[in-house]
Amino acid sequence: MRLFVAVFPPEDLLAGLRREVTGALARAGQKVRLTPVEWWHITLAFLGEVGSDRLPDVVDALSGVESPGVITLRMSGGGSFGKGRSTALWAGIDGDLAALGDLQGGIRSALAASDLPHDDRPFTPHLTVAYADNAAVRGALIEHAGPTWTAEEFVLVRSRHAEGGGGGYETLRAWPVG
Ligand code: 2AM
Repeated sequence: MRLFVAVFPPEDLLAGLRREVTGALARAGQKVRLTPVEWWHITLAFLGEVGSDRLPDVVDALSGVESPGVITLRMSGGGSFGKGRSTALWAGIDGDLAALGDLQGGIRSALAASDLPHDDRPFTPHLTVAYADNAAVRGALIEHAGPTWTAEEFVLVRSRHAEGGGGGYETLRAWPVG
C-alpha cells in the first residue's frame, strides 16, 4: 500500500483558497482541473509502497512521535515545482514552521529507526492544488494569504490513486498535535 503522513488544514480555509483559485481562472477565461479540495494536505513524510504486513510497525513508529506542542499555521504565498503537465502548483505554508519542522523531523526519525521507508526531500511545507502549468492559478496562489489555524492532528494516509477505481485517500490513523 502507498502511504504518507500529512496535516490537513480546516475545510473552510481550503474552500476559501479554492474560491480564489477558481475566481482567478474564471477571470482569465481558463480551465484547469484542480485536485479535489478534500485531498489538499501538507505532506510531512512520504513512505511510498509499504507491504500491508508492515502497517503495524508504521503505526507503532508514529505512535512514539513526540508532539512539539501547539502549531499555528497559515497558508501564504505559493509557487510551483517541476515543468509542463506534471508541474505541481502549490500554496505555501507560514507560521510555526520550526515546530512543524520538528514534527516532520520526529516522524522521519521514527520511521528510520524502525527501518521503514521515507523520502529525503528537503522539507518545503506546501499544499498542492493542481498538477498543471498555469499562470492564473500560480498568480492566485502567490497572492493568497489565509487566516491562521492550529494543527489538531497528523494523519497516516493511504493513497489509492495508483490503484484505479477513482483513487482517493483513506485516513488510517490520526495522532493529536498540541
Ligand atoms: P506533492 O504535493 O508535492 O505532489 C501524496 O502523493 C503526497 O506525497 C503528495 O503531497 C506528494 O507531494 C507527496 N509525494 C509524492 N511522491 C513523493 C516523493 N517521491 N517524495 C516526497 N513526497 C512525495
